[in-house]
Amino acid sequence: MAFQLAPLNDLILNQEIDLLVVSCTLNHFDALDDLYPAATQDMLQMCITDAGFTGKHQQILTIRRPPDSQIKQVLYNGLGASSELNPYSCKQHITKLMPDIKSAKAAHIHWVLPDELVENVRLRQIFVLEILSELYHFDRYKTKGVKPNSPTITFYVAPHLYADNWLDSLVHIQSGLKLSRDLSNQAPNDCTPATFWEKAQDLAQQYPSISAEALFADDLNTLGMGAYYAVGQGSAAPSIMTLMHYQGLPQTASPPVVLVGKGVTFDTGGISIKGADGMENMRYDMCGAAVVLGVMQALAALELPINVIGVAAGVENMPDGKAYRPGDILTSLSGQTIEVMSTDAEGRLVLCDALTYIGRYNPAYVIDIATLTGAAITSLGSVASLLVANDQGLANQLIAAGTETDDKVWQMPLWPEYYSAIDSPFADMQNSGQNSPGAITAGCFLAKFTEQYRWAHLDIAGSAFTYGKGNSATGRPVQMLIQFLQNLAATNQ
Ligand code: BES
Ligand code: MN
Ligand code: ZN
Repeated sequence: MAFQLAPLNDLILNQEIDLLVVSCTLNHFDALDDLYPAATQDMLQMCITDAGFTGKHQQILTIRRPPDSQIKQVLYNGLGASSELNPYSCKQHITKLMPDIKSAKAAHIHWVLPDELVENVRLRQIFVLEILSELYHFDRYKTKGVKPNSPTITFYVAPHLYADNWLDSLVHIQSGLKLSRDLSNQAPNDCTPATFWEKAQDLAQQYPSISAEALFADDLNTLGMGAYYAVGQGSAAPSIMTLMHYQGLPQTASPPVVLVGKGVTFDTGGISIKGADGMENMRYDMCGAAVVLGVMQALAALELPINVIGVAAGVENMPDGKAYRPGDILTSLSGQTIEVMSTDAEGRLVLCDALTYIGRYNPAYVIDIATLTGAAITSLGSVASLLVANDQGLANQLIAAGTETDDKVWQMPLWPEYYSAIDSPFADMQNSGQNSPGAITAGCFLAKFTEQYRWAHLDIAGSAFTYGKGNSATGRPVQMLIQFLQNLAATNQ
């Protein structure tokens, strides 16, 4: 796929064009009027009048082969009144429009964007990334049939909105989203903890700003990461914790932001085994790690002036003779002991040791990203990632970045009343509560390992993938995290 930006006066309309998409706001469908040959212009004007096309929200008008031109198809589409433009209306619009665009099967799409949209930095990002996201397809395992084409798109904007190359940075964000979605959609027999380590090495090869290292299962054990290590005991695929260092500033300049992703490449529940129904979706239990890898790639492509450490905490949760069991008491790297109530509450066991380990980097902020609880889905559905934090300043920055990108985040409280849910009669805590609010309880658990630094936890069980048809990873919240890091880099400078 290739995407480029061009000033509107570069659009030559007497050439062969498969698909010309003209997005316009209400009563502003005249951007091309001076560019068409006269006969073409007359016919288009007639069609527009006959169809009553005004640029109303979600209005679509298709015109095939206008005279005196070599244009196969013109697709006028309305965004509605410019005063009513918002993230939701933009996304709705793209969802409605894309089937027509895909069915045109054009190799090169010429797409004219309205000034009112392009002038709004936030909305144009949401609009363009939604288009690129709709064009995403995953066919790694298909050997038959015609693969969908990946069109080239040239976006045309008014010359005065062309100045900086704003599309390039969106394409970099898109590349991170794609990496994240591709990894997430990979089958669980084809995506193990080693996959993250391999991908991290690829990134390190590709970008001098990234270096990669790994802690292998034996290392986890000898270091004393007893909770993380226990979760992987039942799997034939050894656990690996992959660390990526992105250096966008000189070594000593600023303490890093650390991102820790849950990378459970398959979650059977372990001995506390899950029901068979829908278990295949537990391939997505590594979306947190995939998000971290995607963010690292986008960061390097964007060359953001900030230091970030990304951790993919890879492990597989299987039942086996060697598997850990309910009743086991684990000693975490922090020294705190944990009574296992459910081997299906495995994500927090992996994360707690990873979170303790990264304390050595003296982080500015730590954010973990995890498909941690079904309760996050029950609470917020697929609309928002669920946030808890021990620092309100950090929480506010994440919420703001979520609003800016429409990659939404919603905060839950970590009030002291909630902590008793994980009291244990045997150990310092247990790994799950009973009849307690699941997403908050998981947050309380992690909070006991993150007191040394400013920390936020994003439960993405609802936002990272959607139910229904397969291959449904969304890459969320890559966009929000990149925005957060961009905002932070801007204040650092
Ligand atoms: N990976 C699951 C959470 C999950 C569920 C993610 C559905 C995506 C979709 C997690 O490991 C889990 O099993 N959580 C349990 C915790 C419980 C045992 C305390 C849950 O949410 O039921
Ligand atoms: Mn589980
Ligand atoms: Zn899990």
